[in-house]
Amino acid sequence: MNAVAQIVRPADAFPGLLTPEGARWHYLDSAATAQKPQVVIDAIARALGPDYATVHRGLYARSADMTLAYEAARRSVAGLIGGAENEVVFTRGATEAINLVAQSWGVANLKPGDRILLSMLEHHSNIVPWQLIRDRTGVEIDVCPLTDDGHIDLDAAERLLTPAHKLVAFAHVSNVLGSVLDVRRARVLAHGVGAKLLIDGCQAVARLPVDVAALGCDFYAFSAHKLYGPTGIGALWARAELLDAMPPWQGGGSMIDRVTFAQTTWAPAPQRFEAGTPAIAEAIGFAAAVRYVQEQGLAAIRAHEARLVAIARVALGRINAVRLIGPTDSAGIVSFTLDNVHPHDLGTILDEENVAIRAGHHCAQPLMAQLGVPATARASFGIYNDETDVAALVRGIERTLRIFA
Ligand SMILES: Cc1ncc(COP(=O)(O)O)c(C=O)c1O
Repeated sequence: MNAVAQIVRPADAFPGLLTPEGARWHYLDSAATAQKPQVVIDAIARALGPDYATVHRGLYARSADMTLAYEAARRSVAGLIGGAENEVVFTRGATEAINLVAQSWGVANLKPGDRILLSMLEHHSNIVPWQLIRDRTGVEIDVCPLTDDGHIDLDAAERLLTPAHKLVAFAHVSNVLGSVLDVRRARVLAHGVGAKLLIDGCQAVARLPVDVAALGCDFYAFSAHKLYGPTGIGALWARAELLDAMPPWQGGGSMIDRVTFAQTTWAPAPQRFEAGTPAIAEAIGFAAAVRYVQEQGLAAIRAHEARLVAIARVALGRINAVRLIGPTDSAGIVSFTLDNVHPHDLGTILDEENVAIRAGHHCAQPLMAQLGVPATARASFGIYNDETDVAALVRGIERTLRIFA
């Protein structure tokens, strides 16, 4: 038994992993969203129940306590990635975090003639916000190709980058291929031409240790729900001096210093970027999820998922009709296609076997076009998976092939 298998709580700590009949659900879709451990569910229930009150406003004790808990959650989230609490903005998720950078930093800093470098494997969340900004500011977008094994090709990035590039925005871990970016080298390349580096860490934070100080990036975006936490909340980490200089992108309560009809002044960062009543219970749940993964240890989680990827790749590689996509050192994600079977059909038949995978374009249509496929099947692992899930996947694929034979 490996280290994580020994320390992970039993499967019943994740109520979502059981079917309504009480059987084991072979959940292989954690890259879409992770199941929640009971400790996270309990933390949210307490925050919505006996502890519930608003934050930052109430003068009564419950509200003051909730404010402390909300700000402690920010500290926990910052601590997960080695950042400082004044550098973390709570957002609705990674998508909103990237849109925040685009609408605030992007509009303030980008002008016609400037360029942005994205990569071919980006999630739509790290493409479309920049297209919106391209249409507003006149910047151009360049696309970095991939290596044959599905990594962002940093040699190509080096050739593409020019002093006109003001931003490089890459995924830390691909949600389709599981490939892990060499962020340090990306930082050297981006900073070498004077560009900022934004990292979409949505898939990375739940799968490997992240330290923004060591990585040297400028922005880091992620969602709680892929980290065993709730939906509706995520975070943008930004280097303090950048965040301090960024204008607000949404207006409302909580983000102001003083409002008159003539003029409004802003609260300091990060409050300046949190207009309106925040996602209070979700922030508490986010912090509980951070505690949970820290207890397990992200290095141990990385090793656990790497082992499952290796087992899955060997098992799937034995099936002639399977075409594996992506690198062998993938962080917890195995994409593949089946000859003569559409991934949607595979996903439907696997569902009958209590196996849940994702089938589709994974919000990465440019990557699908590059791979020359309309869709892939994707099995992605989490802390709760083991060999029995891989075996169920293989059984389901074999049954699918018999049906289609
Ligand atoms: C790499 C990557 N970036 C961004 C996102 C968007 O995350 P969210 O929908 O939680 O905002 C996802 C979600 O699938 C993702 O995998």
